[in-house]
Amino acid sequence: MGRFASTVEFYARYREPYPPKFFKKVAEQIALRGDESLLDVGCGPGLLAIGFAPFVGRCTGLDPETGMIAAAKIAAAEAGVEFSLIHGRIEELPTTQAYDVITIGRALHWLERDATLAVLERILAPDSGRILICRATSAETPETAWVKSYREVRRAWTAGPEERRYGIDEKEWFTGSCFRVLGETSVAERRQVTIADLIARALSKSNTSPEILAEGQARFEAEIAAALEPFVRDGVLVEQVVARATMFGYLAHTMTP
Ligand SMILES: C[S@@+](CC[C@H](N)C(=O)[O-])C[C@H]1O[C@@H](n2cnc3c(N)ncnc32)[C@H](O)[C@@H]1O
Repeated sequence: MGRFASTVEFYARYREPYPPKFFKKVAEQIALRGDESLLDVGCGPGLLAIGFAPFVGRCTGLDPETGMIAAAKIAAAEAGVEFSLIHGRIEELPTTQAYDVITIGRALHWLERDATLAVLERILAPDSGRILICRATSAETPETAWVKSYREVRRAWTAGPEERRYGIDEKEWFTGSCFRVLGETSVAERRQVTIADLIARALSKSNTSPEILAEGQARFEAEIAAALEPFVRDGVLVEQVVARATMFGYLAHTMTP
């Protein structure tokens, strides 16, 4: 069983979403024409591929987790998006097919750097090819003070050397490669969530997945609920989701302003 297997049922619905405006803004920024081929590496249930689908010609998702591939198929069908899927790890992708856009959302820290860079160099379209490193997180603001308490509970359950991988710096990751940063963009969205949503979100994370928590799951859920309760107003918590994309291209090229 893969590390994300027990997170699948919670992932698509409860992870911080990428707002629709995010896809539009990124598409404008990298001047997508609508006929590009896009590969979503570590696609999970396909959040990025499905979001970018209206702006490109063809989407392919790649993920080693069987359950994620199945979830992506369902999500694509529900969204009415055509989306082909490859079951496997990016480091072992045998194809020489070129992709115009390669997205990697919340997955860079799982990839073996050198092997992945070799594949990216082989499959990213020459000249205009773009790599988008994407993430969406819940920002801590005066209005969303619960975020700190929520993180503290999760942190208390996730100590260990494995945690260091989450501190990855994407610009550093690409340093010394044939790619360079071309730009960055972010979109914020204010929304409402419930305690139940945030418990399910915690279960969508591989370091507090049902498999990792095991018999501790009920206690973990109770701790999250107790930490969030003081911040609930009219049954909900206000959330500020910030989605970001950092765009990379080949060293020799500059981005369209
Ligand atoms: C946190 S999820 C990200 C899902 C989605 N891209 C998003 O932005 O929400 C990370 C995904 O990376 C996948 N993954 C882990 N190692 C990988 C590898 N070596 N190659 C491709 N995908 C990998 C996992 O199976 C998981 O589905």
